[in-house]
Amino acid sequence: MKTPKRLQPLLEDGLIDEVLYQLMSGKEATVYVVRSCGEIRCAKVYKEANQRSFKKASQYQEGRKVRNSRRARAMSKGSRFGRNEQEQTWQTAEVDALYRLNNAGVRVPEPYGCVDGVLLMELITNEEGEVAPRLGDVEMSAEIALEDHAVMMAYVTRMLCAGLVHGDLSEFNVLVDGDGPVVIDLPQAVDASANNHAERMLARDVNKITSYYALFAPELQGTQYAREIWDLYENGQLHPDSELTGLFEETEEEADVDTVLNEIKAAWEEEQARLLRMNDEVPVV
Ligand SMILES: Nc1ncnc2c1ncn2[C@@H]1O[C@H](COP(=O)(O)OP(=O)(O)O)[C@@H](O)[C@H]1O
Ligand SMILES: [Mg+2]
Repeated sequence: MKTPKRLQPLLEDGLIDEVLYQLMSGKEATVYVVRSCGEIRCAKVYKEANQRSFKKASQYQEGRKVRNSRRARAMSKGSRFGRNEQEQTWQTAEVDALYRLNNAGVRVPEPYGCVDGVLLMELITNEEGEVAPRLGDVEMSAEIALEDHAVMMAYVTRMLCAGLVHGDLSEFNVLVDGDGPVVIDLPQAVDASANNHAERMLARDVNKITSYYALFAPELQGTQYAREIWDLYENGQLHPDSELTGLFEETEEEADVDTVLNEIKAAWEEEQARLLRMNDEVPVV
């Protein structure tokens, strides 16, 4: 096909030999299948900030580390330089996350770098060499659903151990190949320890994925993986290979009703005594 403008520089630099076809045009990016270094790979071209629909970007960026302080100042001021820097941070966040997760034992497409707002990565394919389907387009037996759900919970655990929460995990951001699920689409991944929304985002990620597998294995409904994982994490007990049960025991002590009633009674008695004392002080005429 005719080379799209945004891919032209990569073609000129020899990072891409040929653009084969457009795979998808999503809300944040357009994905192309390309030939690069003698392999079929994919190139994700990020949309410019003003074309993106991703809501509440600031929530996701909270706690994201910016390496030099001049950048950090420019970003917080929102200058044009700042906007460019923010844009770059957004784009490199995904490639950074891919390298990090690849090392942490999470199946993600292998990254080959990010240049000029284009991420080059492995194309995930099925056994026939066709582009792998998204989890949301796959039907499966209860047995496979339970197996793959356990794999996904292990990936979420390893991600968190590597300091990241996906932040947009769903059946549309997981591909399925012959070996199981592969996690994609990570530009919004959040820093688990520095972001105040991390717990809520982890819960949303885990619950969405669990609900999808529960369509095929209803026993997953009602499991408490998100709370279990976060609780272990907060207590410093989460490990990449932590065994999860999906059960979570309420650790917060239930409100002790008797103590509360006794306190109310004591306060009431004290008040009565005070009133009596006051009455005593009133001269009886
Ligand atoms: N590495 C990949 N291998 C195969 N297909 C991919 C790959 N990355 C993305 N896709 C396809 O492109 C679509 C859009 O990519 P995604 O990273 O989810 O971006 P968006 O932000 O547009 O949702 C995915 O739903 C998937 O179908
Ligand atoms: Mg997506």
